[in-house]
Amino acid sequence: MATISSAAAALRRLEGKVALITGGASGIGEATARLFSKHGAKVVIADTQDNLGQSVCKDLLEQSSNASFVHCDVTKENDVENAVNTAVSKHGKLDIMFNNAGITGVNKTSIVENTLAEFKEVIDVNLVGVFLGLKHAARVMIPARSGSIINTASVCGSIGGVASHAYTSSKHGVVGLMKNAAVELGPYGIRVNSVSPYVVATPLAKNFFKLDDEGCLSVYSNLKGTSLVPKDVAEAALYLASDESKYVSSHNLVIDGGFTSVNPGFCVFGQSLSN
Ligand SMILES: NC(=O)c1ccc[n+]([C@@H]2O[C@H](COP(=O)([O-])OP(=O)(O)OC[C@H]3O[C@@H](n4cnc5c(N)ncnc54)[C@H](O)[C@@H]3O)[C@@H](O)[C@H]2O)c1
Repeated sequence: MATISSAAAALRRLEGKVALITGGASGIGEATARLFSKHGAKVVIADTQDNLGQSVCKDLLEQSSNASFVHCDVTKENDVENAVNTAVSKHGKLDIMFNNAGITGVNKTSIVENTLAEFKEVIDVNLVGVFLGLKHAARVMIPARSGSIINTASVCGSIGGVASHAYTSSKHGVVGLMKNAAVELGPYGIRVNSVSPYVVATPLAKNFFKLDDEGCLSVYSNLKGTSLVPKDVAEAALYLASDESKYVSSHNLVIDGGFTSVNPGFCVFGQSLSN
């Protein structure tokens, strides 16, 4: 019997932990909410898409998980503060903060045609939103002397030429902010990391690249024989959220099948851009 319960504990890697997930109504955030719930976490989804967020929670509740929704626009400090406070008042603590909400903004490749408002909109959600999430998670995690903060960056956080100027800038910013926050918060026992996916077929990517699921899956990949799906990113976030990564901090966990390591224009292994 003891063996069965310890095996069950091993399968539920976030048992008793409280997780707040921004952008949890769709895509990578939704997949993470589902996976964290499966692993025993009490999940609070924070998003601007109320109906979608509430329906994910309803679904999780029907599977006996503890999930709730709070409306939150990550560009508004009051909303982020309220989301963190809601998680703490509901569950008494915050163990995991997943700053994942993001947008691509318009797909304009010419910097000359980019407007200031378009640039600022992306920076506001993708970088300012992460700053606010980090700030308010740290506010409640510092007194607790523990916590795991995970931010969704992107392969665009380390290379150029894959997305708009605003998106690439915002994701480089997320990686920089993650490193700075990890240094400041380490002495309080708080770990800060990021996940950096390649193209995943979510509404965000499909809309930006004007592709359907099949189209996204057929985008060039260095790693053959498999495809990147939202749950793969969720699995990486699960590792960073769990105690299994207890000494991992300031790490940018790239989930790209090697994409950012290869230059197909000059590669001794004969890599080509065909799928
Ligand atoms: N899909 C990809 O190819 C890909 C690749 C690398 C990184 N990412 C990053 O992954 C993260 C999740 O994106 P996704 O692909 O799951 O897209 P998605 O559109 O499916 O999910 C994004 C979620 O963020 C929410 N959101 C947007 N603006 C918000 C705001 N101001 N406040 C609160 N919530 C807001 C949306 O409502 C949505 O539910 C983003 O940060 C994105 O930049 C995505």
